[in-house]
Parts: sequence; C-alpha cells; structure tokens
Amino acid sequence: MHIGNVSFDSPFLLAPLAGVSDSPFRRLAREQGAAGVYTEMVSSDGLMRKSRATLDYCRFEPEERPLGIQLFGSDPEVMAAATRVLCELPAERRPDLIDINMGCPVRKVVKRSAGAALLNDLPLIRAIVSRMAGVSAVPVTAKIRLGWDGGSQNVVEVARALEASGAQAVAIHARTRAEKFEGHAHWEMIAEAKRSVGIPVIGNGDVRTAEDAVRMLESTGCDAVMVGRAAFGDPWVFRRARALLERGERLPPPTAAERLATGVRHLGMLAETVGPELAAREMRKHVAWYIKGLPHSARVREQVNRTRGVDEMAALLRAYLEELARGGTGAPGGAPAAAAAEGAVAAG
Ligand SMILES: Cc1cc2nc3c(=O)[nH]c(=O)nc-3n(C[C@H](O)[C@H](O)[C@H](O)COP(=O)(O)O)c2cc1C
Repeated sequence: MHIGNVSFDSPFLLAPLAGVSDSPFRRLAREQGAAGVYTEMVSSDGLMRKSRATLDYCRFEPEERPLGIQLFGSDPEVMAAATRVLCELPAERRPDLIDINMGCPVRKVVKRSAGAALLNDLPLIRAIVSRMAGVSAVPVTAKIRLGWDGGSQNVVEVARALEASGAQAVAIHARTRAEKFEGHAHWEMIAEAKRSVGIPVIGNGDVRTAEDAVRMLESTGCDAVMVGRAAFGDPWVFRRARALLERGERLPPPTAAERLATGVRHLGMLAETVGPELAAREMRKHVAWYIKGLPHSARVREQVNRTRGVDEMAALLRAYLEELARGGTGAPGGAPAAAAAEGAVAAG
C-alpha cells in the first residue's frame, strides 16, 4: 500500500490508541511486522501553542517509521497551525503522515465538536482537511466511524468529502459513535466505502486474531487493516497475520518466556523514554496484558500493581518467569504452568 509517497511493506497497521500506543509499544509492533504505526491522538491546540507536553507525545524513534501523528481538534485554523508546527520540526522528528481523529466518542472531545462529532458536519470536515492539506508537507489522512448513530450513517459521504478535500487515505472503524466499542463492527460498510473512493481505505474494528485480519482484507477489499485491542500485550499478532497472508502459515502464539522477556524490555524502553516513575505506572496495564492467561497471573498482576519502581517490577517479572519454568511454586496448577513456560499458552 502507498499513501501519497509513503509505502508500507504489508497491509497491517497499529491503530492509534490513547494511553497504549506509546513509542516503545510502537517499536515492538514494528519489530513484529506492523507496517506502520500511529501515535495516540494529540491536541491541535497544544501543538499550535508548542506546548512541551504535547510535543513530547509526538516524539518517536526512527525505527517506528512509517509513523502517523494523529491530531484532534475542530478549528480548521488551529488544525492547520498544528500541521505547520509538525512540518517545521527537524526532518528526524517530522512524521510521515498526519492523521485527523474523526472517531473519538468521548464526551469531553465531542462536546468541543472534535472526534466523532465532526461526522455531523461535512462542511467543517472539508474546511479542516483542505486547510491542513494546503499547508502539509506530508500526506493528511483521517480516521472515521460509520456515522454518529444508526440513523445518520454517512460513511460514504464522509469518505468522498475527505477525498475531494485532499485527504490521501481514510481509516474506518466500522461502528457508529453511538455503538462506542460495543456489538459487532459492520465490515460490509468498509467494503461499500472502498467501492466509493479512489484513496486507500484502511479497515478497522473487531480484528481479534491474525485470521480476522486476513479475512477483513479479503472480505472487504480494503487496502490495509488497522489492529487495536488485539495487539494489547501481543505485538506478535502482526507477525502471525503476515505469515498467514504471505505464506498461508499459521505461526504459534508467543511463549510465556517471549511474553515476559518482551514485558521486561518494554519496561526498560519506557523508562528510558518517560523516566522510571511514570514508566512504572504506565507499564501496569501493559504487564497485565503480557501475562494474561498465564498461570496465577491475577496474583502476579496484584504484585505488579504494588511495586514501587521499574527495577522491582522487572525483578518480579523475571522471578515469575523462573517460577513458570520450574512448574509453579506451591500454587495449584504446576503442570499447566510448566506447559505455559514451554509455550503452550496462547496470547490470543
Ligand atoms: C484504549 C483505547 C484508546 C484509543 N485511542 C484512540 C485514539 O487516540 N485515536 C483513535 O483514532 N482511536 C482510538 N481508539 C480506537 C482504536 O484505534 C480502534 O479504532 C478501536 O479500538 C477498534 O479497533 P479494534 O477492534 O482493533 O480495537 C482507541 C481505542 C482504545 C480501546
């Protein structure tokens, strides 16, 4: 797939995920075969003001490329000013794509006419995209939903308006704002949007496994698939999807040892990126996902949540791995624990 002059070497992308798609996680996803990654949404107001905190959210490492920075906001002038700030960064800090959030369902965002609220205002969408595309040195893209609610599904009109205003790709989370993250995603609407525009269409929603990712590509004809929650604690989902698509091969899930070692690495990378204190807090959720389904993981999760620093957390994870390799210590289920350490436990 190409978006403007940016090429992707497979059709599987890591979704923008607030609080989750941090730089280390994006690097891990790229290592495991994600063809591109996005930052979580960042405030266009903050960028326009060159706020240090907002600019920090936009930091990334070269190995994350191709990378999109996602902006949220609703004022065309502010969005254009934020785009300019990104495009004026030194080349090594400039993103490959600038994406617009048109899908966030959260009240705080939609009450300021941003996120999914934009879907109700086609003229505003046109104004934002054309202003941004007019000043951007990199392709501008958007991530949308099917519409505001069941009665106002306008995904085809929105996709056409985006294309006509200068967007170079559209990602579609196949739910309305009213559906939030519930119920089934309506993949058939991705297919309909794909038939209606010439720009690349990226499908998203309810890809839970590598098989789902390939099935979405094949059943909707979309150009790429964006994976969100299925990558939590499982960046290997991209490797499995590629193996399945490219060679028809079903790779085994990662072993407990791979999962824990990656958790420890992720922790170290995060500590380098945001400092040890914040890293210890931010890693709690990631660790919970890395150990999900492993023997006694509930107990270990509680212990992790009580740790006071990254060194203690890393030591706990290493001890847990040793415990699993020995077949469990004192707790029931020693045999399954041994099996897990040998790689029998699936990560999803
Ligand atoms: C914790 C979390 C944070 C998210 N943050 C963002 C975000 O910052 N920007 C965005 O466009 N979508 C965001 N999303 C939506 C996802 O990118 C994706 O569209 C949605 O989760 C459906 O895909 P999935 O079924 O593969 O998870 C978020 C979703 C979750 C669960």
